[in-house]
Amino acid sequence: MISLLFILACGHEHPDVELPEGDAMLGEELYFTSCSGCHSTDGTGGSGPNLLNQTDDHIVDYVQNGSGDMPAFPELSAQDIADIIAHIRVLESE
Ligand code: HEC
Repeated sequence: MISLLFILACGHEHPDVELPEGDAMLGEELYFTSCSGCHSTDGTGGSGPNLLNQTDDHIVDYVQNGSGDMPAFPELSAQDIADIIAHIRVLESE
């Protein structure tokens, strides 16, 4: 949590969020549990929009802060979010 806040606080100096290296295998599990209900298992969207081809910053922002009908996920660490993004990148390549 502290490291994620550090990343976000430094975001205006660096255009892209610097996340730890993600593990797509761990991310698949987290994505399935936390995201797929609204964004579908393939990431193309359901009640929530398509998640494919979004920037790291944008994904971190939504997961951290939520928006509209999407809740924030304060329990997900920077590592968890990096893992989820790694899984989304795999979905994009399928
Ligand atoms: C309860 C349903 C729900 C869940 C669970 C959920 N989302 Fe969302 N998500 C939404 C909705 C609805 C929006 C559109 C919100 C808006 O536009 O204000 C959204 C928007 C987004 C966006 C912005 C997409 C765009 O087109 O700009 C991202 C990125 C995102 N979600 C990622 C995630 C991730 C990653 C997870 C899992 C950690 C997740 N969401 C879990 C409902 C959900």
